[in-house]
Amino acid sequence: MRAPIRPIRGRWPSWLEGLAPLRRFFRLDPLAILDDDASPEAFREAMSSIHVGGTIKITGGDRHPETDELLIGAVDLSNARIADIGASDGSTSVDLIGRLPDFAAYVIADLYLTLRAVRVGSRTALFDAQDRCVLVVGRRLMAWPELSRVVRALYGRVIARAAARLRSDGREVLLLNPETRRLIASDPRVSHRTHDVFTVWEGDRPDVIKIANLLRRLYFDDADLLRALHAVHASLPEGGHLMIVDNPRLADPRPRAGVWRREDGRFVEVARLGEPEIADLVERVGA
Ligand SMILES: C[S@@+](CC[C@H](N)C(=O)[O-])C[C@H]1O[C@@H](n2cnc3c(N)ncnc32)[C@H](O)[C@@H]1O
Repeated sequence: MRAPIRPIRGRWPSWLEGLAPLRRFFRLDPLAILDDDASPEAFREAMSSIHVGGTIKITGGDRHPETDELLIGAVDLSNARIADIGASDGSTSVDLIGRLPDFAAYVIADLYLTLRAVRVGSRTALFDAQDRCVLVVGRRLMAWPELSRVVRALYGRVIARAAARLRSDGREVLLLNPETRRLIASDPRVSHRTHDVFTVWEGDRPDVIKIANLLRRLYFDDADLLRALHAVHASLPEGGHLMIVDNPRLADPRPRAGVWRREDGRFVEVARLGEPEIADLVERVGA
């Protein structure tokens, strides 16, 4: 189980933070996401402290070089409308866009693109769109109330005071990396939107859907994964492509990916790297 409380780096005596067995528990202050001048690296590191909807917004720079090349080699993307679902702060989208010779449109999509922050004394509480408190950040500690009943009880008063002020004082925080925002501002082909992978894409259908590190057995059971895959299938036109990527944290951390084309109402594999975790489920769609 993940520790539901962690100490914040740089807020404790240096001898304590330097102790080898404790060092890995200290985390960067996640309120970097409120800082307009945060570096792309600090913003990404803060993402690994944001737990939402049973998933974590963990991402990385240069995280998908092999799997991006797999997609580029397998599919002609020159006129493609691409949707990247579960893109977190958009860092991996920025990387893929940088590798593409050309494309028509790229939508950076995620169900959790904003949080609201409320400050109560020395603490800041962060809430999702359903008004659930997902993180409390103090001077020295950060805590995840959704991960533990004890934490919910410990921080109950702070959360209640923050919730009461959410409408009047809540500051909206856009969870897109500063690099991603710059790209969206400078390239009219790139946009972002809120999208739930369990629902069918609204509006112009994308030609290619990339989903990385979201449709994992770590997060969802097979019934839910199949539900998401049916929605993705219905979101693609005939001849459209789906790429699923996993970066497993196993003894063998090599990325795994599959690329499938929608053909005759099913998914037909066109390329793969390693053993994609849910390839068996993708092949059941429409069968
Ligand atoms: C582990 S991150 C993956 C980020 C990025 N794709 C990567 O590989 O680095 C999972 C992302 O999925 C998003 N997410 C969780 N549930 C979702 C849903 N139902 N629909 C769309 N996105 C969702 C989370 O907000 C988070 O940003």
